[in-house]
Amino acid sequence: MNRKKAIPRETPLLEVKKLQTSFDIDGTDYHAVDQISFRVNPRQIVGVVGESGCGKSVMGLSIMQLLPKESGRITAGEIIFDGFHLENMTDSQMNKIRGREISMIFQEPMTSLNPVFTIGYQIQEVLLNHLKISKREARQKVIALLKSVGISRPEKLVDEYPHQLSGGMRQRVMIAIAIACQPKLLIADEPTTALDVTVQAQILELLKEIQSVNDMSIIMITHDLGIVAEMCDEVIVMYAGNIVERTDVNSLFYQPRHPYTNLLLGAIPKLAEESDRLSSIQGMVPSLINMPKAGCRFANRCPQASPECFTVSPVLAEVSQGHEVACLLYETSKRGEGVRE
Ligand SMILES: Nc1ncnc2c1ncn2[C@@H]1O[C@H](COP(=O)(O)OP(=O)(O)OP(=O)(O)O)[C@@H](O)[C@H]1O
Ligand SMILES: [Mg+2]
Repeated sequence: MNRKKAIPRETPLLEVKKLQTSFDIDGTDYHAVDQISFRVNPRQIVGVVGESGCGKSVMGLSIMQLLPKESGRITAGEIIFDGFHLENMTDSQMNKIRGREISMIFQEPMTSLNPVFTIGYQIQEVLLNHLKISKREARQKVIALLKSVGISRPEKLVDEYPHQLSGGMRQRVMIAIAIACQPKLLIADEPTTALDVTVQAQILELLKEIQSVNDMSIIMITHDLGIVAEMCDEVIVMYAGNIVERTDVNSLFYQPRHPYTNLLLGAIPKLAEESDRLSSIQGMVPSLINMPKAGCRFANRCPQASPECFTVSPVLAEVSQGHEVACLLYETSKRGEGVRE
């Protein structure tokens, strides 16, 4: 008998289960991230894509437990990192993990660096916070770190202030801070959006190099499907707080299933195109307070929507090995007919 040997599944570094993150707006909780589940394996680069307002940053901030205290909180679900539940951790427990085990490069580099402290001081703080080393050792480490992120003359730069640096240099500093303690997971939220194309390519190259040298996993949040193709192993497509598709990078580009993913792929600008306008998807992502009450959240923008799509909520389910989609097109039992292609 030709029985296939079961391939042992790798223990994930991060497992997010049915995570729901809500914002209190005028006394009512609205879900910016709603019941999302995914895993990140050791050394894996997982891309997160979706239009503006889909919940990508809120997802990253939820993992880091850095939601705005006055309005945002995790209202359901689990975040299991390296065997530990993060969703129940106290601030002081999280302080030991944040920057040490998990780091984040934030969407706005200028607001993340403190303008009144030198670059050296800001990196040194992270090291002193987590490692038992002297100030002198920390300064040496800072210089080595700056060198490792491609900064020439780091001895000079340690004593400079953020405003003295170009955008690309600032982003390199942000990366140095994020990797200072060799975290197991890096959440990079649009790490290159503000940079020009050449610098962007250098920063991505740098991230890839660091990832392989440090055996790090990365969650790469981006609008840019080019970056996904270049960097990622797996991809999560988010729409209005939900995951609508999750698959490996090749299937995303060659066998996209969800109509939203298809439209996103169609929205990639082509250099040769005569028009210089980006084709974009008709309509807008609903705001938190205007989420559809029933059915698929994408239905009103979906060219393939049927009447059921406005009433029946799709469930993320496997359509082929390792490829999950949340769309009634693939849920034959709910539609009572075959898959519409
Ligand atoms: N502090 C907040 N208070 C209320 N609503 C918020 C807050 N932060 C985010 N939101 C809402 O949560 C939803 C998801 O926002 P999020 O910032 O995660 O989007 P995103 O996918 O990261 O978008 P972008 O690509 O523009 O960065 C949006 O509707 C946004 O308006
Ligand atoms: Mg964002």
